[in-house]
This record gives sequence, C-alpha cells and structure tokens, in this order.
Amino acid sequence: AIERTLSIIKPDATARNITGKIIAKLEEAGLRIIAQKRIRWSKAEAEAFYAVHRERPFFNDLVAFMTSGPIVVQVLEGENAVAKNREVMGATNPANAAPGTIRREFAENIERNSVHGSDSAENAAAEIAQVFKPEELVG
Ligand code: CMP
Repeated sequence: AIERTLSIIKPDATARNITGKIIAKLEEAGLRIIAQKRIRWSKAEAEAFYAVHRERPFFNDLVAFMTSGPIVVQVLEGENAVAKNREVMGATNPANAAPGTIRREFAENIERNSVHGSDSAENAAAEIAQVFKPEELVG
C-alpha cells in the first residue's frame, strides 16, 4: 500500500552539510518527499516527540542532541514507505547497519545516527501530525 512516514535528518548531519547526500539515498529508494522543512526544536518539542523514550537512560542526552542544531523534517511517501525508509536508514547502531545504508555510510554513533524514521504506520501518522500542518503536505 502507499504509505507516509516521518523522516528527520538529525543535527549531526546538518552540521556536516550532508543533507543532500541523505536525501539522494531516500529518493533512490523510491521515496518521494511530499513535505520538508528545516527547523530547530525547543527542549519541549524534542521531549514531546521522543516521549515514548522518557524512561530510557539515553533520554536526556537524546533531547540535548536533537536540540543542539537544525534538523530537516520530511514526510516521505511511497509503496511500503515505513519499511522502505527503515531499510534505507539501516540499524539504529551504525556498527550493525548494512553496507550502503544511510547510517552505515554517515552515522557517527548510536546517538548521532543521522536520521530518524517512524517505526509503524500508526506512529507515522502521529509523528507527522506533531511536526506538520495538513496543508504542508503536497503529494
Ligand atoms: P531514533 O530512531 O531517532 O530513536 C531514538 C533515538 O535515541 C535513536 O534514534 C538514537 O538517536 C538515540 N539513542 C541513543 N542511544 C540509544 C540506544 N542505546 N538505543 C537506541 N537509541 C539510542
């Protein structure tokens, strides 16, 4: 089915000026960008987005990282977009990511891992609604 998923290019990647290299990999995988903006999150916005991880030991570091610089948020659309995006991102830890994936090629470590992608269609809808207004999606 045609799905939508939320993608974030993280501060480690905007800092290294490699957003275009990451976007090329997403597009080469057949994903279409139907919304995109460069923003900087407040602490409250990052905490709300990652609320599911609130009890994890890495939560405070993650919020500090995600507010440390600009991010590029995107809505990607395509056949099986959620799974396809996760495939092209590779494993959370770049040490475990397959060759050719975004995280294997670009991520610095398990936290500074260059990209986020929704993990289910249900979470994608909630994440998209947190970051974009409906009229910002142009399919
Ligand atoms: P993301 O897919 O955005 O989801 C949660 C983020 O927490 C993850 O990518 C990493 O940036 C960060 N993180 C830091 N440490 C860990 C860890 N040990 N396990 C999972 N995620 C981590």
